Amino acid sequence: MGKQSVLVSFFVVFISSVSCTSSLSDDHSKFILGKDNFGHWRNGILSSTPANLAPSPSNDPSSTLVLAGSRTKRPDILNNFKRYHDGWDITNKHYWASVGFTGVAAFTLAILWFVSFGLAMIIHHCCGWRIDIKGNESSGSQRICLILLIVFTCGSSIGCILLSVGQDQFHGKAMETLNFVVNQSDYTVQTLVNVTEYMSLAKTVNVAEVFLPSDVKDDIDRLNIDLNNAANTLKLKTNQNSHTITTVFDAVRLSMIAVAVVMLLVSLLGLFLSILGHKNIIYIFIISGWLLVAVTFILCGAFVIINNAITDTCMAMGQWVDNPHAETALSNILPCVDQSTTNDTLYKSKLVVNDITNIINGFIGTFANSNAPPGRWNSNYYNQSGPLMPYLCYPYDSQLRDLECPSQLVSMANASVVWQNYTCSVSESSYCTSTGRLTPEMYQQLVGAVNISYALQHYAPPLLSLQDCNFVRETFRIITSDHCPPLEDRLRMVNTGLALVSVGVMFSLALWIMYANRPQREEVFGKISLKMMGKCNGDMSVDVESRSRKVSGGEV
Ligand SMILES: *[C@@H]1O[C@H](CO)[C@@H](O)[C@H](O)[C@H]1NC(C)=O
Ligand SMILES: *[C@@H]1O[C@H](CO)[C@@H](O)[C@H](O)[C@H]1NC(C)=O
Ligand SMILES: *[C@@H]1O[C@H](CO)[C@@H](O)[C@H](O)[C@H]1NC(C)=O
Ligand SMILES: *[C@@H]1O[C@H](CO)[C@@H](O)[C@H](O)[C@H]1NC(C)=O
Ligand SMILES: *[C@@H]1O[C@H](CO)[C@@H](O)[C@H](O)[C@H]1NC(C)=O
Ligand SMILES: *[C@@H]1O[C@H](CO)[C@@H](O)[C@H](O)[C@H]1NC(C)=O
Ligand SMILES: *[C@@H]1O[C@H](CO)[C@@H](O)[C@H](O)[C@H]1NC(C)=O
Repeated sequence: MGKQSVLVSFFVVFISSVSCTSSLSDDHSKFILGKDNFGHWRNGILSSTPANLAPSPSNDPSSTLVLAGSRTKRPDILNNFKRYHDGWDITNKHYWASVGFTGVAAFTLAILWFVSFGLAMIIHHCCGWRIDIKGNESSGSQRICLILLIVFTCGSSIGCILLSVGQDQFHGKAMETLNFVVNQSDYTVQTLVNVTEYMSLAKTVNVAEVFLPSDVKDDIDRLNIDLNNAANTLKLKTNQNSHTITTVFDAVRLSMIAVAVVMLLVSLLGLFLSILGHKNIIYIFIISGWLLVAVTFILCGAFVIINNAITDTCMAMGQWVDNPHAETALSNILPCVDQSTTNDTLYKSKLVVNDITNIINGFIGTFANSNAPPGRWNSNYYNQSGPLMPYLCYPYDSQLRDLECPSQLVSMANASVVWQNYTCSVSESSYCTSTGRLTPEMYQQLVGAVNISYALQHYAPPLLSLQDCNFVRETFRIITSDHCPPLEDRLRMVNTGLALVSVGVMFSLALWIMYANRPQREEVFGKISLKMMGKCNGDMSVDVESRSRKVSGGEV
């Protein structure tokens, strides 16, 4: 690998990795929390009605529950390194400052390394100061040097493998979590859209020219505008966020793969070159290794921060799931604090269901079940006859509480089947010609109305679950139980890999210099390098040992 390609790949890796990880921490937490999703949702749907029936939390700070308090007591950079006490709160810059502090050790190490190794190299270059292994007496230390070099190269190779496997699995798990959150959001959007559709359909309910009262229709129109806005915003934001997050994670993945591959190449080539004693080329490797080690330390720090932020978030979610009604930092960015629009939707949909039931039962009472005397002036008469039709039962009482369906009434679920038995065949003037109480046209209208209110009734539980936050609680519970532990494991793996790589390459660098500067003869080296072409790793150490014996023998 030439000098230029090393430098080019190094810069690509550096720039992409640094820019990625810096934006990652932010976006990641947002996605974990669904901050944007639910934040906008709240602004769209829940803030649209001024009447706020939910308990107003911010007035009573004494009841505030500090989330993840045990984990988040860290020095706050923005506050003279005093301990931060307010717990998990992604809207608080002091929280981020204190989480950022956890990466300081690795960043300091990166700077220390960068400066000290840089100084050492300058001194080495300018003043000719060098660590050399000279003469016969040090063939033992040469061997130790070589063994150490191989150990550290193995260490950094294992680190590279851990890093690439860990980041691959981390990427997979993160995408899984993202898809889960996106699906939850899609489900919410679908629920809202479906409710809107059925509400619109309810406006068209028409049984024997009886419609819903016009004030109810107006309410439906107003509610539908809110619901549509909420659904559209939620959908748009979810798409945008998931797109951004996917892009960021793909970039992180690429940079991690690049770091792993470049580090592996550098450490293996460095090992060979220093064994072969290519002093000049080894300096290119030493310089690129010097910069790469600094980069991996920085990446390490970034991943420590990400790890802490994710672990904090997982803990905060877990604690919130256990205490959903306590006022917490999470409550401010969740939809369930402000309940008025979902409550309104739920309330209206139940009202509409009962209104439709009213219309249907009114029709059954005044038309189908009436035994109106025949006569052209009597609009109720269409030669209906036979047993009386069962009425539709009301799903909610006047307080809109759920009702059991009495056995003599028919439930919405089987109204269409039961009423089928009461249809008659009709003449051209739509009079029944056989026994029955419904003309087929009436049956269609009734069943259509029942279908709509049945659908609305079906959406009451999801709406309720959106309102009382069970939906979010369930989402968080699944995230904390199913998604957090694997994410944390993979992050630890990535961090271990990064640490192994950086430490391994760090020590290898020093050993490369020492080992490449050992006394040797060019002819011997040329011969051995030819011999080594066809050999694999395992034979090499033997080769090298015999060669180093030859070399030291020749020097005497
Ligand atoms: C999406 O979420 C809904 C509701 O939680 C669930 O029923 C459905 O199975 C999920 N779909 C996928 C593909 O995960
Ligand atoms: C919404 O309605 C569509 C079509 O009727 C249906 O396929 C989908 O499952 C519904 N979604 C939800 C969340 O109820
Ligand atoms: C929902 O709204 C109805 C009427 O608007 C109100 O009577 C009821 O108390 C509200 N419920 C909740 C939980 O806010
Ligand atoms: C009608 O509903 C009742 C419960 O209300 C149920 O037991 C019965 O099986 C249903 N009949 C049909 C035909 O669906
Ligand atoms: C419809 O009528 C048939 C025969 O008259 C009867 O056997 C059946 O049980 C009825 N179905 C319902 C749902 O009432
Ligand atoms: C009215 O219905 C009965 C059956 O219930 C039928 O026999 C009769 O012919 C019908 N009358 C007219 C005018 O269709
Ligand atoms: C009502 O729903 C039933 C199934 O639940 C379906 O078979 C029927 O076609 C629907 N009727 C109308 C008018 O939508």
